[in-house]
Amino acid sequence: MTPHDTAVPDGPVHPVTGVRVEQLVVPASVDAHDAADFLESVEVENAIRRDAVGSDELSWEAAELLPGLLDTTWADRRRFVVRENGVAVGFADYETRREGDAAGTAWVDLGVLPDARRRGYGTLLAEHLESLAATEGRSQLIAYVRSLGDGEPRLAPPTGFGSVPAGNGEVRFLQRRGWELGQVMRCSRLALPPDEEALAAVRDRARAAAGDEYRLHTWVGRSPARWLADLADLETRMSTDAPSGGVDEPEDVWTAERVADEEERSLAGPRTRFTAVVEHVASGRLAGFSQVEAPASRERPAFQQDTLVLREHRGHRLGWLLKVATTDLLLAERPGHPAVITYNAEENRPMLDVNEAVGFVPLEHEGVWSKKA
Ligand SMILES: CC(C)(COP(=O)(O)OP(=O)(O)OC[C@H]1O[C@@H](n2cnc3c(N)ncnc32)[C@H](O)[C@@H]1OP(=O)(O)O)[C@@H](O)C(=O)NCCC(=O)NCCS
Repeated sequence: MTPHDTAVPDGPVHPVTGVRVEQLVVPASVDAHDAADFLESVEVENAIRRDAVGSDELSWEAAELLPGLLDTTWADRRRFVVRENGVAVGFADYETRREGDAAGTAWVDLGVLPDARRRGYGTLLAEHLESLAATEGRSQLIAYVRSLGDGEPRLAPPTGFGSVPAGNGEVRFLQRRGWELGQVMRCSRLALPPDEEALAAVRDRARAAAGDEYRLHTWVGRSPARWLADLADLETRMSTDAPSGGVDEPEDVWTAERVADEEERSLAGPRTRFTAVVEHVASGRLAGFSQVEAPASRERPAFQQDTLVLREHRGHRLGWLLKVATTDLLLAERPGHPAVITYNAEENRPMLDVNEAVGFVPLEHEGVWSKKA
């Protein structure tokens, strides 16, 4: 018996090759004695991404992925691989929440190395994820799936915004399995340093619109304790107030404790987090927030994380204010990164307007797919 045999003794088996889906041990750190399988799976994931986008710009380092995987309090994240002759050729991720409405959903991802495709490994992994969700009584699965190219014909989501090439392998694969396209996300890239004139124009317009009613605060790393409860509200509203198109994204409830917990784990990783918030002066409560994360290497791009302005505070260009604030903060604190990468729903015109005004250009698209149990 190899060590892999002991990981998941009852993983599903490929009908022809006998290859089995193995659950990986999540190591405590990338240097841990049991980290090798996890590191190998990250290589597979990044090779699939590199093949699709032609660069390593969107890759994740193993140490950047670990903080999320190590959260066992609020979420349950599992990673699987399939091996051919002992070498990992495909990976799959399965993520659920422990409580609330969100516990009814499983967010999944999977990929197979280009040279190992059309041999049934994708099906083996997908069947495993779908049957896990069914066994655990999850009512739906959601997947964010890269779809590149301008091939015709197109498949459009019910939002009517954006589309994916209907003939692409991943689209055929998902449709055959009964998944439905609910939304299209645009991934955009801002080359750094940005055009200062364009940024200044957005900054001036945003400040004029926000006036004295709102106050901007920014910080690097740990959030001040006074804002944790408001940040929890904003994170919760992120799951309900951001456009989710034809996908039934459940409410994912955050508490101050969960925010602090997540922050602690993430700060222990190699990324630096930059936060901007706007305070509604009259109520002393936060009306919106935006976060950017920068990897340790300045040769890699920074990634825009969540940005939200609460519905009741929209129309004051606070999104613009936040976007410029995080960009200014990143440039001041960590100059030298080549770009910022961000993801927005194709129907989210207000956010796309901000990004386009600042100088973001489209890089690629993702379909948001779901399957009801
Ligand atoms: C989509 C992906 C996972 C499929 O993996 P795979 O191991 O090739 O899948 P399978 O061999 O099990 O294919 C099952 C069926 O899907 C369909 N399919 C898969 N790739 C296809 C392609 N390139 N063109 C047309 N149909 C395709 C076919 O119906 C295929 O059955 P067949 O080979 O008997 O005709 C793989 O192409 C991949 O990793 N793509 C990049 C990452 C990605 O898009 N992931 C999807 C996340 S859910």
